[in-house]
Amino acid sequence: MSKPDGRLRLGVNVDHVATVRNARGGAHPDPVRAALLAADAGADGITAHLREDRRHISDEDIARLMTELKIPLNLEMAATEEMLSIALRHKPHAVCLVPEKRQERTTEGGLDVAGGHNYLAPYVRQLVDAGIRVSMFIEADARQLYASHSLGAPVVELHTGAYCEQPPGPTREAQLTRLQIAAAHAAKIGLECHAGHGLGFDTVKPVAAIPTLVELNIGHFLVGEAIFTGFESAIRQMRVAMDEARSPIKVRA
Ligand code: PXP
Repeated sequence: MSKPDGRLRLGVNVDHVATVRNARGGAHPDPVRAALLAADAGADGITAHLREDRRHISDEDIARLMTELKIPLNLEMAATEEMLSIALRHKPHAVCLVPEKRQERTTEGGLDVAGGHNYLAPYVRQLVDAGIRVSMFIEADARQLYASHSLGAPVVELHTGAYCEQPPGPTREAQLTRLQIAAAHAAKIGLECHAGHGLGFDTVKPVAAIPTLVELNIGHFLVGEAIFTGFESAIRQMRVAMDEARSPIKVRA
């Protein structure tokens, strides 16, 4: 849901706090503590991806996030029976269905909702029936938008990876145009539109300026930036960048 004041929501992804923790196998740094700090710093929601291989977020992290967070949890997961039963047990505010391959370093590319329509349908239906807001993590592509809509998912999240990977210049601009067109299209067919993946201070503003976007989900950059300026400060700076991108142009008298 968009914020009552029309501001773009910021979902902070805490996966990579868990990546650092898991490098040593102990309890520090705690992604739940990071999530609570993110809430204090202005995050509107927390995102966490429970991967099949549990390489970062653990089952216990999800259980603790569910009990300790006072802001909504967006659980990212693959469409598998195991993940579905976890989601139905915890009933987070939102579930974002993502593609997952064991060998990938991160979520490479969006979910092929058009190609996997029949496979995905029962997952979307059961999650929606449980009162969970379902989003589909897709490429900025009209076919994927229509397929998500026809499945009854109320939300799509556009994959911004292809845009963020480009150097500044025409190729990045072309990817931005794709995102702008898809976000406008999503709103036209009644889908709430989010975006995320790979966003940082140098890439966030043009995306945040897309008027039909309701939420951005950002993680890796913020966790990396925390090394230099602290997690809270990085989140606050990101919030400012997003607000600046949305503020109306001041016309001089
Ligand atoms: N949105 C989705 C659906 C994702 O899978 C991820 C990465 O886990 C993100 C947003 C955040 O991406 P990043 O960590 O690159 O900011």
